[in-house]
Amino acid sequence: MSIATLVTACIWFLVVPSFTCANEANVNCLKSIYSQVEDPNGYLSSWVFGNYAQGYMCKFNGVICWHDDEDRVMSLMLSGYGLRGEFPYGIWNCSDLTGLELADNNFSGPLPSNIASLIPSLTILDLSGNSFSGEIPASLSNVTFLNTLMLQHNQFTGPLPPELALLERLSKFSVADNQLTGPIPNFNDATLKMKPDDFANNTDLCGMPLDACKPEEEGIIRPGKIGAAVGAALFAPLGAFLGWFFFSGRKEKQQHRSWIYHMEH
Ligand SMILES: *[C@@H]1O[C@H](CO)[C@@H](O)[C@H](O)[C@H]1NC(C)=O
Ligand SMILES: *[C@@H]1O[C@H](CO)[C@@H](O)[C@H](O)[C@H]1NC(C)=O
Ligand SMILES: *[C@@H]1O[C@H](CO)[C@@H](O)[C@H](O)[C@H]1NC(C)=O
Ligand SMILES: *[C@@H]1O[C@H](CO)[C@@H](O)[C@H](O)[C@H]1NC(C)=O
Repeated sequence: MSIATLVTACIWFLVVPSFTCANEANVNCLKSIYSQVEDPNGYLSSWVFGNYAQGYMCKFNGVICWHDDEDRVMSLMLSGYGLRGEFPYGIWNCSDLTGLELADNNFSGPLPSNIASLIPSLTILDLSGNSFSGEIPASLSNVTFLNTLMLQHNQFTGPLPPELALLERLSKFSVADNQLTGPIPNFNDATLKMKPDDFANNTDLCGMPLDACKPEEEGIIRPGKIGAAVGAALFAPLGAFLGWFFFSGRKEKQQHRSWIYHMEH
């Protein structure tokens, strides 16, 4: 590198440092997303890198910039593109991102457990209609400004992290159609009007706005061996009657269990 080039580079660097860095990071962000996802339908064919005119990225399909003449990504709206792959962790270089909409694609695999550090400024996260799996990371509760969190129609398993209740601005939320279990967190009901539909079609969620949790899920009774023995002795004479319940549906099974609870207490 000649001295002249070096001096020019340094002056350039001094004059527009944050601008350049922000843009470089944003370019890296889109490049890494582009290389991480499969795009069988060619929706990302407008994502052609190598043109360094300011704002060229803002014309890419699904990319919304803060200003049209500045490569700083505000939102990525890539819903329904048929994209495949894992959660695009390169997203963390789009550091001013407020909206990430990846609904109705073919994304799969778990969400990163450090997701809050990847997308700290998001207000809208829509991952619905994919095949994401594993547990919903508690770290999401650290995406402080989140007002919309759509996780429905995926394959999430395990409990809903109680920390989600810390999301004070949450006003739109759904986890319908997953394989979640356990109690629903105590959301801030001033902002979030919870509807049963937002929690429907899961393996075994309970609590408001669904049916109350069974006592054992709230940790009230933890029947050990003694409890089991007492239970067996108590219910042996009723075996024939109970048999009827064993062949009935889940709803009735719940009633049956709460009925056992009342019998025991
Ligand atoms: C997901 O992939 C399957 C084939 O693997 C395809 O039939 C389906 O249309 C894709 N979904 C979307 C939303 O493109
Ligand atoms: C994020 O950007 C930095 C430089 O700004 C780069 O070194 C790093 O590889 C990028 N990370 C990803 C995942 O693109
Ligand atoms: C949220 O962030 C704080 C501070 O970085 C951290 O101590 C805490 O463990 C995080 N919470 C979750 C649920 O990840
Ligand atoms: C629940 O599943 C049924 C049957 O697959 C479907 O018709 C309904 O739309 C689903 N509801 C929600 C809220 O996902």
